[in-house]
Amino acid sequence: MISDTNFPGQASNVSVGSVRHLSAILGLQWGDEGKGKVVDSLSQEADVVVRFQGGSNAGHTIYAGTTKYVFHLVPSGMLHPTVQGLISHGVVVNPLKLIGEIEKLESQGLSLKGRLFISSTATVITPFHIDQDTKLEAGAGASAIGTTKQGIGPAYTDKISRKALKVKDLYSPAKLREFLTPQGLALGFDAATVEGHFKTLQNCAEKLEQYLCDSFEFLERRYKEGAHILYEGGQGALLDVEYGTYPFVTSSSTTFAGIYAGAFVPRDAQIEVIGIIKPYVTRVGGGPFPTLMEPEAHQIIQTAGKEFGATTGRPRKCGWLDLPLLHYAVKISQVDVLGFMKLDILQELSEIKICVGYEWRGKKVEHYYPSIDLEEVKPLYEVIPVTAPLVIDSKLTAAGEAFIKYLEQKSGVPVRYVGTGPERLQLVVRG
Ligand code: GDP
Ligand code: IMO
Ligand code: MG
Repeated sequence: MISDTNFPGQASNVSVGSVRHLSAILGLQWGDEGKGKVVDSLSQEADVVVRFQGGSNAGHTIYAGTTKYVFHLVPSGMLHPTVQGLISHGVVVNPLKLIGEIEKLESQGLSLKGRLFISSTATVITPFHIDQDTKLEAGAGASAIGTTKQGIGPAYTDKISRKALKVKDLYSPAKLREFLTPQGLALGFDAATVEGHFKTLQNCAEKLEQYLCDSFEFLERRYKEGAHILYEGGQGALLDVEYGTYPFVTSSSTTFAGIYAGAFVPRDAQIEVIGIIKPYVTRVGGGPFPTLMEPEAHQIIQTAGKEFGATTGRPRKCGWLDLPLLHYAVKISQVDVLGFMKLDILQELSEIKICVGYEWRGKKVEHYYPSIDLEEVKPLYEVIPVTAPLVIDSKLTAAGEAFIKYLEQKSGVPVRYVGTGPERLQLVVRG
């Protein structure tokens, strides 16, 4: 037990003993599970919503009435006027994109002034990072990752190489030049182009100055003031740079560990993790995808589920729910409860399949471990006929409830939220 006497002068701010619960919303598949919609709903009871990793590769969609909002860098809780949104130090920020997003959201009637906060130590994505991302992908041929071309990988590479440009460096002409000039020249750009980007970034910095904060100080203070903090994940567990289907992953920690690295978590806080899934899986970009649907079911789900990227517009590949990967994602994201979105889409099919295990190298396996090569597995399915609607008038039917119970039993995790349609209110909260 730490006390003030053990560490005079240091421990006075540390409180231990009473646990306070905070929340996190994390994707458990390859992204696009419907995280934004659940963040929006839970933000009714949150004071601060925090993005802690990733960047504008994320696209979190919320339909409010007839208006569609897409959040890329700005936290998805901001439709609630009293919520504060923090872009924490673990995020990679493209200043130009962020300003565009702020302007778009403000044109849709949101006021972000005074309640959006950007960490001064977040990493900057420059136009040259985007160029690098694009060139790397173009040069990779068949082994291209299929990135969102938002410059995410190159910016995190700079961070890990300990030479990143931080948001606060935008305010030092010397530091900005020191970073941008060699970066641009190495990529073959001329001095005039470098100068153009230098000026653009300086202009962006001026516009963003009002939002800057020290994310550590901000979170520590707001927590002490009693704020309920909600951590909003980008991407999904299977895209995690440590645990995902490497190398077909993003460049950040999208799982539980990423919260602690990318944003401050007070030591007496306990985070309840809400893991978000769909009743099928989708993937944009390359990489193994064992449960890819047969063409007819694929067409139905992709169309009904509008499975097209919120950031790039690319069609998402659709596959059957993969329980070995779900078990794995639950473990690596330390999930307490599930949010199960898009149940309404499943009822478009008369029969669905659930992958309950794999055949791999002559053996049957129920659990996925990273040493299993997903390119080699043959999925083993349970086939479930859909004989009655699962959702009627945005509510769960008896058949819908039975399906949720089946999923709870198979996953071992309670389902608290069920998505019954795209609109923000089409969310059932189970007891
Ligand atoms: P995120 O990146 O995890 O926030 O998910 P996206 O926003 O990229 O993709 C999820 C899509 O599904 C969005 O267009 C949502 O509006 C939509 N959506 C979310 N929940 C539901 C649901 O329960 N039913 C239906 N039909 N659509 C949903
Ligand atoms: P949200 O938060 C789905 C995928 C890309 C690519 C890989 C690496 O909306 O769920 P990157 O640009 O990050 O270097 O691309 O990760 N990807 C996503 N797929 N949803 C996302 O975010 C994604 N963010 C990145 O398609 O396969
Ligand atoms: Mg998305």
